Amino acid sequence: MTGRLNDSFGRTATDLRVSLTDRCNLRCSYCMPAEGLEWLPGQDQLTDDELIRLIGIGVHHLGIEEVRLTGGEPLLRRGLVALVGRIRALGDIDISMTTNGIGLARSAAALAEAGLDRVNVSLDTVRPETFAQITRRNRLEDVVAGLAAAQSAGLGPVKINAVLLRGVNDDQAGELLHWCLERGYELRFIEQMPLDAQHSWSRTDMVTAAEIRGWLGARYTLSPAPVRRGSAPADLFSVDGGPGTVGIIASVTEPFCGDCDRVRLTSDGQLRNCLFSRDESDLKTAMRAGISDEELAQRWVVALGAKKAGHGINDPTFLQPPRPMSAIGG
Ligand SMILES: C[S@@+](CC[C@H](N)C(=O)[O-])C[C@H]1O[C@@H](n2cnc3c(N)ncnc32)[C@H](O)[C@@H]1O
Repeated sequence: MTGRLNDSFGRTATDLRVSLTDRCNLRCSYCMPAEGLEWLPGQDQLTDDELIRLIGIGVHHLGIEEVRLTGGEPLLRRGLVALVGRIRALGDIDISMTTNGIGLARSAAALAEAGLDRVNVSLDTVRPETFAQITRRNRLEDVVAGLAAAQSAGLGPVKINAVLLRGVNDDQAGELLHWCLERGYELRFIEQMPLDAQHSWSRTDMVTAAEIRGWLGARYTLSPAPVRRGSAPADLFSVDGGPGTVGIIASVTEPFCGDCDRVRLTSDGQLRNCLFSRDESDLKTAMRAGISDEELAQRWVVALGAKKAGHGINDPTFLQPPRPMSAIGG
């Protein structure tokens, strides 16, 4: 072990989020414009060997205990199953993936076999017309099939991430929870954050965690779930006495930066110490210039040492990072 990824506020990063691509096959209105984005050039993307080298440094030298694959849409990465197998071979770490679920029906069993532990699937509605309105694609059935396949493959507990948008699906919180409880999926609502490529986020328009608690509370009895929150961002509630739960992630209105244990690697090899950071450490260029593992590890340590106390969304001087969520890795 070379060192730990400590920052100057007493936090230690142990959870690595790795973006495998910035591309996506959905166009969620709160994430990307309808026409998509200019994708990162292929030669800028880390190869599988480069990814494995960097993740290996994190695991073997820097105390990384969890790796979450994300994007863009990670299922679009060619050779994903083999890549998961190589990450598994790095050691006894927790490997999970955040995905929109399209194509998961085909790959869930192979991913589980290769060593993936769990998935979080993003699903904001179970109504086909609202799904098409939000994602600009008619793929609800694929996502539902992907969820079922993930559960059968043992990629559980299967979690669902949902974002509520005012006037679009904010009337569907209870319905979505009911649907998830019936199927044994663990639902988490996430507050919309200022990370969309179009910069359309608005503080006055966003649906707050307090509103979501109110809507769910009108239909269900929510009580704090007997699980330590720790560094997990969701405030977890038992629903009607359990065993079902629901999580509410209040990233904007009740930030949990003091508990953050994350570090992020983008698909083009930039290390980020915060989702909202405006600075990145360019590991790809350094790696392609022939830097040693020890020097790469040292760059991680320096990058994490500069982590700020909080994301700053609520500061008057807040500026959205230049990279959208899809190119950072949510
Ligand atoms: C960027 S996606 C990437 C992984 C994968 N494509 C997926 O859909 O899960 C990861 C998560 O970020 C969420 N997300 C995207 N933009 C967001 C925003 N502005 N605020 C909050 N969550 C956002 C998505 O809903 C999704 O759950």
